[in-house]
Amino acid sequence: MSEKKILRQKMLKELSLLSKLDRKKVETGQQKQLFTTPAFKNARTIGITISTEIEWDTYTIIEKAWREGKIIASPKCVVKTREMYYYAWNHQNQIQTGYAGIKEPIPEKTKRILHSDIDLLIVPGVVFDTDGYRIGYGGGYYDRMLADYSGATISLCSERQLIQQIPRESYDLSVEQIITEERTIDTARQNN
Ligand SMILES: Nc1ncnc2c1ncn2[C@@H]1O[C@H](COP(=O)(O)OP(=O)(O)OP(=O)(O)O)[C@@H](O)[C@H]1O
Ligand SMILES: [Mg+2]
Repeated sequence: MSEKKILRQKMLKELSLLSKLDRKKVETGQQKQLFTTPAFKNARTIGITISTEIEWDTYTIIEKAWREGKIIASPKCVVKTREMYYYAWNHQNQIQTGYAGIKEPIPEKTKRILHSDIDLLIVPGVVFDTDGYRIGYGGGYYDRMLADYSGATISLCSERQLIQQIPRESYDLSVEQIITEERTIDTARQNN
């Protein structure tokens, strides 16, 4: 098994053992910081996944953004090409469970949003380093997306998900900021 795969599995196991209270503490800390970043404050359109049980909560972020009049665009995976298309949604009846049990927008009920129209992208991941490199879920969806995206990027994680250095491959792309329950890390990557 590759080193990335081992790190990913180990961390997913560790995360699955966290108590509800511990998770809540991390999420509250993440959100407090996210909401004060210029990237969030200035974003008109935010690209963000609809969180599953094992991921950090994004519903609170989505609702805060809506209250502030921002547009929320969530991805739908095209499994064949490992691409993601983003669609703007504003009601639960516009989403449904799709690829890998992930909630996705229903294209017929929503509006397609081009990558170039997303101001801030929240990039999921399992393990990170402070340079902004990440191990995702292994599909390469975000590495492909980031290759074709030039807006702001932020990943949310917990301190326990940070390691010294992520094994990097030529196609791996980093994010600009990493937010944990404790701090906001500005990485070397700055798109703007
Ligand atoms: N820009 C790209 N174009 C084509 N293939 C790519 C690109 N980026 C990554 N891949 C492929 O995707 C696969 C998975 O990459 P990797 O193991 O880094 O996944 P990951 O970073 O965990 O996933 P994700 O990006 O979805 O979070 C690799 O086999 C790689 O060859
Ligand atoms: Mg990668």
